Order: sequence, then C-alpha cells, then structure tokens
Amino acid sequence: MGKSVRSLERKVAKQTHKKEESSAVTSDNMTSSKCFMFVSFFIILLCGVLLGQSTDEADVRTYKDNEVLEHSTKDVTYKFDLNHGQASDTAFVYIVSGLDQQIFFWIQTKQCYECKYILLGPVSPRKTVELITDTTWAVDIVFNFDETDSSNATVCSMTYHFRQSGNYSLYVNYNKTSNNFACTRILSNNPPDVYIPIYVAMGILFGLAIFYILLRILWSSGSVLTFMVYLGMERAVSSDLGTPSNPVSTHDSNSIQRPSSDKPQRLKSLDAFRGLTITVMIFVNSGSGRYHAIFGHSTWNGLTVADLVFPWFIFIMGVSITMSFQALLRHGVSRRTMLLKVVRRFVILFGLGLILDGGTNLSKFRVPGVLQRIAASYLVVAVIHLASVKHRGEEYRVQNRLYCELRDILDYWYEWIIMLGLLALHICLTFLLPVPGCPTGYLGPGGPLVGEDNSLENCTGGAANYIDKVILTYDHVYAHGTARVVYQTVVAHDPEGILGTLTSIFLAFLGLQAGKIFHSFSYPRDRILRFFSWCIVTGLIAGALCNFSKEDGVIPVNKNLWSVSFVLTTGSMAYLLLSLFYYLIDVQHWWTGAPFFFVGMNSIAAYCGSEVMASYFPFTWDPVYGTHAELLAMDVLATSLWVLITYYMYTIKFFVKV
Ligand SMILES: *[C@@H]1O[C@H](CO)[C@@H](O)[C@H](O)[C@H]1NC(C)=O
Ligand SMILES: *[C@@H]1O[C@H](CO)[C@@H](O)[C@H](O)[C@H]1NC(C)=O
Ligand SMILES: *[C@@H]1O[C@H](CO)[C@@H](O)[C@H](O)[C@H]1NC(C)=O
Repeated sequence: MGKSVRSLERKVAKQTHKKEESSAVTSDNMTSSKCFMFVSFFIILLCGVLLGQSTDEADVRTYKDNEVLEHSTKDVTYKFDLNHGQASDTAFVYIVSGLDQQIFFWIQTKQCYECKYILLGPVSPRKTVELITDTTWAVDIVFNFDETDSSNATVCSMTYHFRQSGNYSLYVNYNKTSNNFACTRILSNNPPDVYIPIYVAMGILFGLAIFYILLRILWSSGSVLTFMVYLGMERAVSSDLGTPSNPVSTHDSNSIQRPSSDKPQRLKSLDAFRGLTITVMIFVNSGSGRYHAIFGHSTWNGLTVADLVFPWFIFIMGVSITMSFQALLRHGVSRRTMLLKVVRRFVILFGLGLILDGGTNLSKFRVPGVLQRIAASYLVVAVIHLASVKHRGEEYRVQNRLYCELRDILDYWYEWIIMLGLLALHICLTFLLPVPGCPTGYLGPGGPLVGEDNSLENCTGGAANYIDKVILTYDHVYAHGTARVVYQTVVAHDPEGILGTLTSIFLAFLGLQAGKIFHSFSYPRDRILRFFSWCIVTGLIAGALCNFSKEDGVIPVNKNLWSVSFVLTTGSMAYLLLSLFYYLIDVQHWWTGAPFFFVGMNSIAAYCGSEVMASYFPFTWDPVYGTHAELLAMDVLATSLWVLITYYMYTIKFFVKV
C-alpha cells in the first residue's frame, strides 16, 4: 500500500509539474512582475529595519547663530573610543561647566550590559572640557561629585546616541530659582545621516535588479531579439549567450531535471539559500562598511544579521546530507564507501580551516574556526545518519496513519536520542562544570566592568571558555573576541570553541530533519507545513529559554557561546526562510534564485577565495577617505565580485566540490 500511495503521489507531482511548465511558458511576463513584487517587498522590509535604527532627535535644541559657544578655552580632551579605531565614528562634545564646584564625568556605552561606568575625569569649576566620543551606540553620561562611586550624589545623567561628526555643546548649570541642576545639550552643526551610503547602495542594487528584470521581460517578448536581427547581430549574440530558442540550460546538468525519470530534481532553493548565507558572510567578513551597529556581530548576548549566516550555513549543510546520501544510495554506493567519503570530506574541510585560520606562528596556532566547526558538525551528523539512512525505495515497516504522518521522525528515533543527549551534555557542562575562581554556570562576558571588585574578570564565557583553556590553552584559540572592546575582557575567547560544537551539531541535525522532510514527503504542501511546524516549535522553545529578551532568561541568545537558545532561534528562522525559498523557487518558479544561486553552487570556493583574497586589490585597498561611504563601496564591490566570479564559474560549469 505504501508503494502505491507513493507512486500516486509521484504521478500527481508530475502532473502539477507539467501544468506549471506550460503556464510558465505562457506567462513569463507575469512571473517577472511577481519577481519584481518580491524584490520590492524585500527592499521595503530592509528600509523599515534601517529606519527603525535612526535615533530620536526630539530632545536636541538646534544651534542659533546668536548663541556664543566658548570652545577656545577647553581644559582637556577626554576620549571615549570603542576602538573601532576610526575617526569617522566619533562626535565632539564640549562640556561647559557653570558650577563653582569640581564635578566628575562618567560614561558607558549602552551596549555594555550592567557595566560599571568609566570615570573619564574631573571637570573643573567654570571650565570647558572636550569629549571625543564613539557614535556606534548610545551612551550613558553621568556627572557627579564623587570620584569613587558613579551612582552617588548625581548632578545629572543622560542617555544619548550622539550623531556621527556632530559637534555638541553640553552645559552643566545650577538653576537657583528652581533649585536644581540642569544639563542642556545643543547640536551646533548639521551632520549628514550616517546611513545615506546604505540607502544609496540599496538604491543601486535595486536599480540593477529592476534593470535585469526589465531586460528579461523585453528579451522574452522578443523585441530585443527582433532589434538584434535588425542590426544583424543575432548570430554573435546567440553564439555567446544562447538565444531563447536555444537555451544553454537544457544541456546543463545543474538545471532542474524534467520529472521524466524517477531521479528527483535538484533543489535550487537550497543552493540559493546557501548562496545567500555565503554572500552575507563575505560582506560581513570584508567589514560591511564598518556599520558595526547594524552589520556587526553581537557584542555578547543578542542576535544581528551577521550572527545569522554561519548557523544558517550549518543548517543547510545538514539538509544537504540527506540529499547526497540519497543520491549515493540510488547509485548503489556501499555504506563503507560513503563513510570513507564522509571522513575524507571532514579531513579536507578541517585542513582548509586550519590553513585559513591558523596563521603562521606555530606557538599561537589557532585550532578552532569556521570550517573546522563545519567539518566537525558534518562528521558527527553524517556518521550518525549513515547508520540509519533509508533508501526511498525501501519498504516502510508499518502502514498506520499516524506513522505515515510522523515517519520523518519515527524512522530516526535513535538519532533523536543521541542528539538530545548531546544537547543535555552541553547544558550540563555549561551549568554544572566548576570553573576555578568563577561562579558555576556563568554565561556572561566577564571582564573588569561587570560584577563586584573584578571578581568576574577572567570568567569570560564561563565553562565554554574554561574547556578551551584546559584542552587547547589560550595560545591556540581566537584572541580577539567581540567582547574585547566594549567589556574590556582580558582573556581570549573563541566563538568557535569546543563546547559550542555540540550545539552546532544539533543545528546541523535540525537541518538534517528538513532534509528528511524533503525525502519522506512529496507534496510541497506537506513539506512546507512541516517546516512551519518546526519553525514554531524551535522558535517557542528558544523564546522560552531566553524569555523573549536580549539579556534575561535562563539561556540568553549568544553567538559567542552558541547557546541552546541561539541554535534554536537560528534554526527556527532557517526553517522559515527555507520554506520561503522553496516555495518561491522550486514550487512556484517565481524566482530563479539568482544571484545567490550561483554563489551557493560554489560556496566553499567563494568562502575560501574571499578569505584568501581579502587583502588584495580590488577586494580591498587602503581607504583614501576612511568614510563609511568608501568602505561600504569597497565591501559591496568585494561581495559583488565574488557573486560575479561564481556566476562565471557556473557558466563554465566549474564546481569546486569537497
Ligand atoms: C556620597 O558623596 C558625598 C559627597 O561627596 C560624600 O560625603 C558621601 O560620603 C558619599 N556617600 C557614599 C555612600 O559614598
Ligand atoms: C567640530 O569640531 C571639531 C573640533 O573642534 C572641528 O575640527 C570640526 O571642524 C568641527 N566640525 C564642524 C562641522 O563644525
Ligand atoms: C585574572 O588573570 C590575571 C592574569 O593571569 C591575574 O593577574 C588576575 O589576578 C586574575 N583575576 C582574578 C580576579 O582572578
């Protein structure tokens, strides 16, 4: 019975496919307009996110010409530099004290959670000091009379996000009539919006997308071709690009296979999704225009765009494991050979990772890393799955209805036991492993700014960090953690450390689950429904763990630790995005997945290439102006170049496989 159901499913799938094909031919214009709508939707979404970032300027009085600002008599210059090291991310603040007493000036960035204030120094009576402050995030400022305790005897305090290149004056006065202190802030120039380069870049990319879509509409309606024929250029074009009557894609092994045989078609959505993650990864690694607040990694807890792409890549790798195993089984490859392939792939990936991350100083050789993490997760999940994988043609044991609905889980229940065991091990080690000198179960960034009397100074990352310290020692892990600047942490912390590999294995397994869904169910509707269910389940568990907040909750979302809530959150989003890509690309054929598709077809080549070439022109150059605009142009150019390179590799059918 199982067999007949499946052959029926297949038949239906075939028929719907034929229908889609014929409708795709007749309504190419409609397809393009849907594609256009989709692109617009995404751009609008991005704009919304960016606009949400801009700060509220309501409480700033603007400078009027007749106001006299005495800046010439400044006493001393204080710097609050978060050492993104770049002059462009700063604002000037002249602090003018109208008091007869000396006050003390404290500051801290909002990004530092529950941190002590930093004492910048005194402001003498009736004097002016200059502050050069970081503008990446909002800051808290406190003036008081006590140089030992920022919370005692406060004159005034404020939280404000200074604008880049802004020149501010801040007057501290005592108002005798109302008998209290008053701090007034005045912006004395009009600095441009720091996000303008992003709007421009998005406008250009949007314009290119529209141009491309219009070109395709014209092309398919034949008018361009007619024009070419008119000019006598038709032959030249057809030999170079392939004309619509003779498309290259029919001979292309990577395009969708027509469902004439039993051989399943390649899922273009997976390649597109993988390509998206690699594209963003290249952009982020190249510096992302130094927009740390938007495109940078989280300082400690939290989730940013940059934090999403690596876990998503691991997720997709998990999905692909089922695909490649099925293909190998179909070709009658023995499990022993498959195991050898898995191990070979692990060794190559791990080795590549060591070459890229290790460095040339053997006494400081970094062992963990991005590709190493990918390799280890792959090895564990693939080996476990190898023991239980079934060929689609194999008979299912039971034919009851509940079993049919849940066969993607029930067929692999022992994988679940192993994986939940790994998760439990991660949680136990994190919360129960005693770390000398630190509270057990500590999950924070450590450093001198949090906790009482520097007691947490060396506790960065708690158990995860301690395990790396004992096994690898600090000489062989990443030395520049994201918390280094803001939290002033002193010990090294590797975001790709040993303990976090356990959760990344689980994330690869969540991806594998998506692969099993692809394999166990034929109807797109069934698959998408299951993706949604997984999205909701993992999302809710993650939300419960982190209390739907950034800093609270039992297990906060944290990329540095790859906490359980982090992999569940990113896994949840990955299910959602996968169903979206799958629906748009493979079910409805509204989108070809370009340009991400090309990157996804050569993801390892693009990643390694971008890492190796990162210090060469034209992927980078010494900034002439050092502005966000220049850096963003540089990084967008580097990313676009890799998209073009992978596109070229695709057209010559050159695929780097490991
Ligand atoms: C708070 O500051 C005042 C004035 O400087 C000082 O006399 C007092 O001892 C301080 N209190 C504490 C608890 O530090
Ligand atoms: C802001 O102040 C700095 C330091 O005095 C000065 O160099 C700069 O030109 C000023 N910028 C504007 C736009 O007024
Ligand atoms: C942290 O480590 C440094 C260097 O090993 C040491 O000097 C310091 O005392 C340690 N701090 C604590 C609180 O143990």
